[in-house]
Amino acid sequence: MQLDCQNKMNSLKPIPAGNGALKVYIETYGCQMNVNDSEVVLSILQKNGWRHTGNLEEADLILANTCSIRDNAEQRIRGRIEQFALRKKKRPDVLVGILGCMAERLKEKLLESGKVDIVAGPDSYRRLPELIACARDGHPGIDTLLSREETYADISPVRTDRNGVSAFISIMRGCNKVCSYCVVPYTRGAERSREPGSIIREACELFRNGYREVTLLGQNVDSYRWTGTPEEADSPAGAETVDFADLLERVAAIDPLLRVRFSTSYPSDISDKLLRVMAAHENICRHIHLPVQSGSDRMLEKMRRKYDRAWYLERIRAIRDTVPGCGITTDVIAGFCSETEEDHRDTLSLMEEVGYDSAFMFQYSERPGTLAARQYPDDVPPEVKTRRLNEIIALQMKKSEERYAAMVGSVQTVLVEGPSKKGDGQLCGRASNYMMCVFAAPASGVLRPGDYVRVRVVGSTPATLMGEICR
Ligand code: 5AD
Ligand code: SF4
Repeated sequence: MQLDCQNKMNSLKPIPAGNGALKVYIETYGCQMNVNDSEVVLSILQKNGWRHTGNLEEADLILANTCSIRDNAEQRIRGRIEQFALRKKKRPDVLVGILGCMAERLKEKLLESGKVDIVAGPDSYRRLPELIACARDGHPGIDTLLSREETYADISPVRTDRNGVSAFISIMRGCNKVCSYCVVPYTRGAERSREPGSIIREACELFRNGYREVTLLGQNVDSYRWTGTPEEADSPAGAETVDFADLLERVAAIDPLLRVRFSTSYPSDISDKLLRVMAAHENICRHIHLPVQSGSDRMLEKMRRKYDRAWYLERIRAIRDTVPGCGITTDVIAGFCSETEEDHRDTLSLMEEVGYDSAFMFQYSERPGTLAARQYPDDVPPEVKTRRLNEIIALQMKKSEERYAAMVGSVQTVLVEGPSKKGDGQLCGRASNYMMCVFAAPASGVLRPGDYVRVRVVGSTPATLMGEICR
């Protein structure tokens, strides 16, 4: 999703609306995949004459692309639906549509309140113009069929949200892992990989348009696999199999000035071949997001993760040996079903041992329909979950502080993204290992977003490097 699911809301930056056209406003919740999906949705709607607006007040159609990963994500969206309803009261012709994971999970239940007109699951976006037409005729427009093929490969996402420097490219959809706590396989369906030629074309076009970084997205990128005859085969015609390492290598070969990132990796599937490809190409960024979820073998088994602690630590060693300096980040869940103090201590000791640069840390939230919800009681009391999560966060804070401080004195190649968020006249951009770096603009000459600059790190916080441009 940084990577994955921060359950934050993104309102895409609009393209100026033309006069007369109907206007669509879209809010995006959840992971990077959803950000990219909203861009696909905008592309589909623009082809059908809709204009994008960032102003809810002037929208004829209000869309929320939603997340179901934890209960609090859904609660937040329910609150937004109430606010959209107020807008509908003022202007009854305004339509409200719920897209994404919550649409898939709750289906027609979302229509019951009368506050939602359109419900479209993650594989139904091509049908949005039809569903909208239906809703405008006064009938609910709903489609939550999941597909085994849909990858939206031929749709060029409307790039609105980013800085014109880095963009997401979705390389696959769905997930076949079925971790016992996770709703994603039910909301996003079975795994399917996108045809490699369309991915390369999209990356080339982004590069031509000035983008300097692409992030290849998938729920589990290591299981990317495509067999067939690529549309633009650079090998003699005939069927071939492209795995994730092959794909990454092809994207990296587009231009040394195009940085390549990817997310998310799965510990039992991340291969030595992939690590060797990373090591061989400097423009493949030195960063791997490798969710561990728990440091306890008993919990990992119950979570139906397909590795144990020893395997995970071996993969960390392999990453550090093959790709020196690689940043490693993770996701952790506190208080999964039947978790004991000993299991919790195992998570803390693993985090201590690995020393992650940063982590997304969550309390377990039971999701209806998952294996865990069906088979195991959610029996860790809320106050215990909260206390364990706080301990996990406190330890990670200390580790992040150490990891960032260890960079002081080093020289990093930073891809300039633009002015720093603090608005203090400084610039910011990421080092290859994903650490954000803030530095003063050069006294002479101009640095533009998309330029690379060598920066000496002179200070740090647990989330930022402070640097000076090397002369
Ligand atoms: N409760 C809490 N966290 C969850 N995640 C996935 N499902 C749940 C859940 N039911 C977390 C995992 C995953 C990240 C995207 O969200 O850590 O890696
Ligand atoms: Fe993304 Fe859906 Fe998962 Fe949320 S639940 S993180 S929107 S895939």
